[in-house]
Amino acid sequence: LRGRSLSVTSLSGLPQWEAEKLPVEDLLLFEVSWEVTNKVGGIYTVIQTKAKTTADEWGENYFLIGPYFEHNVKTQVEQCEPVNDAVRKAVDAMNKHGCQVHFGRWLIEGSPYVVLFDIGYSAWNLDRWKGDFWEACSVGIPYHDREANDMLIFGSLTAWFLKEVTDHADGKHVIAQFHEWQAGTGLILSRARKLPIATIFTTHATLLGRYLCAANIDFYNHLDKFNIDKEAGERQIYHRYCMERASVHCAHVFTTVSEITAIEAEHMLKRKPDVITPNGLNVKKFSAVHEFQNLHAMYKARIQDFVRGHFYGHLDFDLEKTLFLFIAGRYEFSNKGADIFLESLSRLNFLLRMHKSNVTAVVFFIMPAKTNNFNVETLKGQAVRKQLWDTVHSMKEKFGKKLYDALLRGEIPDMNDILDRDDLTIMKRAIFSTQRQSLPPVTTHNMIDDSTDPILSTIRRIGLFNSRSDRVKVILHPEFLSSTSPLLPMDYEEFVRGCHLGVFPSYYEPWGYTPAECTVMGIPSVTTNLSGFGCFIQEHVADPTAYGIYIVDRRFCSPDDSCNQLTQFLYGFCKQSRRQRIIQRNRTERLSDLLDWRYLGRTEGFKYPRPLSVPPSPAASQASSPQSSDVEDENEDERYNEEEEAERDRLNIKSPFSLNHAPHGKKKLHGEYKN
Ligand code: UDP
Ligand code: G6P
Ligand code: GLC
Repeated sequence: LRGRSLSVTSLSGLPQWEAEKLPVEDLLLFEVSWEVTNKVGGIYTVIQTKAKTTADEWGENYFLIGPYFEHNVKTQVEQCEPVNDAVRKAVDAMNKHGCQVHFGRWLIEGSPYVVLFDIGYSAWNLDRWKGDFWEACSVGIPYHDREANDMLIFGSLTAWFLKEVTDHADGKHVIAQFHEWQAGTGLILSRARKLPIATIFTTHATLLGRYLCAANIDFYNHLDKFNIDKEAGERQIYHRYCMERASVHCAHVFTTVSEITAIEAEHMLKRKPDVITPNGLNVKKFSAVHEFQNLHAMYKARIQDFVRGHFYGHLDFDLEKTLFLFIAGRYEFSNKGADIFLESLSRLNFLLRMHKSNVTAVVFFIMPAKTNNFNVETLKGQAVRKQLWDTVHSMKEKFGKKLYDALLRGEIPDMNDILDRDDLTIMKRAIFSTQRQSLPPVTTHNMIDDSTDPILSTIRRIGLFNSRSDRVKVILHPEFLSSTSPLLPMDYEEFVRGCHLGVFPSYYEPWGYTPAECTVMGIPSVTTNLSGFGCFIQEHVADPTAYGIYIVDRRFCSPDDSCNQLTQFLYGFCKQSRRQRIIQRNRTERLSDLLDWRYLGRTEGFKYPRPLSVPPSPAASQASSPQSSDVEDENEDERYNEEEEAERDRLNIKSPFSLNHAPHGKKKLHGEYKN
């Protein structure tokens, strides 16, 4: 769907005009998803980051369809009247018949139009619509599955809307792309009602894949052996699985986000995707080449501040030699690889202690769980830090004033007199306030399911309790990050920039935005050869490790071997010197073009070459022991080294996009960037 015209001749079942090349002006494009203006996971990221490129190409003829939630609309949408005649008539007709349809511009880059349906407002139709759905495809939805019922209402409203649009389309042809099973009922109903629209169904995962992997089944070696109907029934998701499978088979075009999910879909949904559309990002380059490095330093300082508070009384580690690692995403303990990550952290802790390393790793788990607010100890930590800061500040003022007065009198003050007895008392009291009886907490919130929570249970088993001797410290933040948080006021992007390494050792990951996002921000990450992103990088980058993308083998080796490999990656990372980390970040950032929506789809055959200069891996440089990183380059002029090194690297590593492959007559895609 990217280009000024559409022609899909090889696919069956398309409406009459399938073989014609139509200008965008004669088309209307609708993209339907439960995550339009509604953040749940990565599908939101797909839609939000693609909006600008799509709106640039489709202009006023592009519309997103999603659910209406008051809070989301208040914060993200500017409501307005539709300009397009067919869309306006459709919205009016539905509102006249007892629905609540909202229309506006989504305030993100590209400001696309959104059509949002209030699901609750139309819920009284549910029984009738269940009957319609049964007539259409003989799938019944049990009353107790609230989510599936909501999706049926959403789908029924979508199909109704599309019917109204096509009735008033005035010769314009309509294309609708539906994301994931949640949006699929709209597709099924549209087809059952023979609406004249071309349909695309995009799956971002299969229901069965997610469930079977979460059950710790050796999924990828048994793909062709599952009795899928039986598995779905046993897991009580038979109706959802039917909704998903029917959507796939009703679509004119079926797409997915990666090769690995295409194979999975063939087995779990019995249809091979027609097209694979890897996920991209809206990549922005700064006019100063090193801006992303500056941002790293700036946001790292904010994380350091949080850590000062969290570990008050236990700050016997050097923050300049502390690395920030993190895992983030929906809380799927084993699918997202939190299980092997914790196990590897336990081994890393052992290695760092055994080798008497002075490096400390503070590891954040950002995974939303049920909580009952922040816990007191965590809030206290930040309050203690703040109080200490205020004390220091007022003493500094007093000290400064005395110094100033003395200098005005032409005297060098006696340093012993400059602080009086009261000052010393205040300082002693400040030190006393940083004493604590308990260890720094492992979680920032009161967990509702504390005793059964998988991360906390594993931490208890492996004993990573943030004790003084631990070189690996753990913090579970069971809520997505937000700049309005009273505890860690940073949004996710700022946090990622301030960290050193993102660790995403997923077992089930159709794409996996989290490591991709790290890459475009120049932050190294760990991914796996079972994630769509990891496989994409393996295909397009000759030596991913050299570019700061560590790919754990979760496909061909045992969990224990994967764990050992991950431990080695983490340990190797901890052994790098600051200089090596800076070079590695430069290289990571250089892969950004590969993940840019503007160039995706033109990447076939492209491969980033192995960098020619000294690889940043400590294994291949002189720095071969953790101690060697102690002899850091603190005394060197880092800025000079950084830029010189980056320049040297730039000459060695050329983005394939800046070579002769520039599509659409563009000479150098790099030229589009400010730098
Ligand atoms: N994310 C976020 N805030 C956080 C942690 C994660 O917005 O505090 C986002 C992250 O930017 C990413 C998405 O959640 O875009 C997760 O997408 P991914 O494809 O990695 O996994 P999914 O949840 O879709 O399985
Ligand atoms: C960036 C900054 C440097 C800083 C470095 C810290 O590169 O531009 O000024 O020294 O980050 O790197 P580190 O990996 O130790 O956080
Ligand atoms: C799904 C997958 C994730 C993917 C996202 C966007 O939620 O779990 O791997 O990145 O969709 O396609």
